[in-house]
Amino acid sequence: MKQYKIWYLSTEVAPFAKTGGLGDVCSSFPKALKMKDYEIRTTMPKYKIINERKYILREVIRLKEIPVTINGVTKIISAKSAFLPDSKVQIYFIDIPEYFGRVGLYADKQTGKDYEDNAQRFAYFCKGTIETLKILSWKPDIIHCNDWQTAFVPIYLKTLYKDDEFYQGIKTVFTIHNLAFQGSFDIEMAKTLDIDPALVENDGPVGKSGYLNLIKGAINYSDWVTTVSEKYAEEISTTPEFGYGLEGFIGKNKSKFSGILNGVDYSVWSPEKDKHIPFKYSKDDLSVKEQNKQALLTRVNMPYNENTPLIGMISRVVDQKGYDLLVEALESLLELDLQIVILGTGDKKLEDNIESYQKKYPNKISLNRAFDETLAHMIEAGADFFLMPSRFEPCGMNQIYSLRYGTLPIVFNTGGLADTISNLDEKENTGNGFVFDKYSSKELLKVIKKAIKLFKNKGLWTETQIRIMQEDFSWDTSMDSYSDVYEKVVGE
Ligand code: GLC
Repeated sequence: MKQYKIWYLSTEVAPFAKTGGLGDVCSSFPKALKMKDYEIRTTMPKYKIINERKYILREVIRLKEIPVTINGVTKIISAKSAFLPDSKVQIYFIDIPEYFGRVGLYADKQTGKDYEDNAQRFAYFCKGTIETLKILSWKPDIIHCNDWQTAFVPIYLKTLYKDDEFYQGIKTVFTIHNLAFQGSFDIEMAKTLDIDPALVENDGPVGKSGYLNLIKGAINYSDWVTTVSEKYAEEISTTPEFGYGLEGFIGKNKSKFSGILNGVDYSVWSPEKDKHIPFKYSKDDLSVKEQNKQALLTRVNMPYNENTPLIGMISRVVDQKGYDLLVEALESLLELDLQIVILGTGDKKLEDNIESYQKKYPNKISLNRAFDETLAHMIEAGADFFLMPSRFEPCGMNQIYSLRYGTLPIVFNTGGLADTISNLDEKENTGNGFVFDKYSSKELLKVIKKAIKLFKNKGLWTETQIRIMQEDFSWDTSMDSYSDVYEKVVGE
């Protein structure tokens, strides 16, 4: 295996700034690469919320006040540097106060609306990153990009920089974490981003149905594309429901696609090492998990009863994550002997709807409208079940974390959920959760009732928990697949 030089680009990296699984993956992946002796450097925007003192961000003299010009408009950017916590992975923060000195990452916290200049913000981030490489005289073998916000890198390299000596031979890999977000903008915007409108018009390489489509551009201009599970790669290349209009185009580009499952950083997500949970535990003493359940219920103001199953959910409160089904099923669900704790924000209508049930059943359901890393870990440790009825899910991380915490996942049969969770079979002693196949509230209710039945069978319940806690979803296996991709693109 060759140890290439990789430059890794993302708009979220935990613990500095994250809105979901993307942040976790873009932190654990470079660390795993480093463990395999790759020369890896990463970069992200310097958002306002990043605590410079806590993470010891340092100025880099050479990277101070670099002019970056797009469509004749020059912005002065600087880059600071630090290390990913507990690692030797260097990360550069691209500082453009005008664009990233705001409270939200992508959207205004007050209105919930995306910033109108998101395309410009990330275009300057990408171009700034490209320029940074030259100033550092650090020429990577591969630039690995994640999601549409980083799509400008492969696009610019193959257009604006195609004759620049320094960038010759650099390969690009692009990972799609969620195709529902494509970076689609008015065609008029192309010019202001230094993208030739001719490439956008008539469904050109960066256009789709009369719009600028950045993810399509990234797929076209990257040397290789990955998605975060095998099943999702299949789904987005065959089905309009998952491909959002790009399924035909992706199908045609299948020869440079791979689906590679995300791995987990167990130094962050395991009950033995978890810094956020009140009581650390392992499969050898599950009574401590019970103490975490009590602590969680106290935290969310609900009574504890050993025999009442507790279901946890952590995600954006949006239809994609299955909240439409949940709301439909809630009345019947809450008649059962169970409790539900939800963490997340999103669609106000859905949140209000759930909250109306909370008023009616304050001891049974708790909605926490926040982004709270500590509470997220407490839910993983304290809940008996983890519910993820997503309509589609490129990978999903929480169902995988849940296994290690002995918290049984209940999921819909889609994408990464289907690739990681299979139905329990009591006779064969196989499977690691509960999966429902038809996307309906009736089926959801049915599968939850089935799950509760297992919970009541104490012997089998504990046995199952101990078994699933031993499953291993660390980066090891997936890293081999990424190494293959890197070898393939550099070898071309
Ligand atoms: C996105 C996807 C999610 C995936 C995560 C990390 O948030 O929606 O399924 O687990 O990225 O790849």
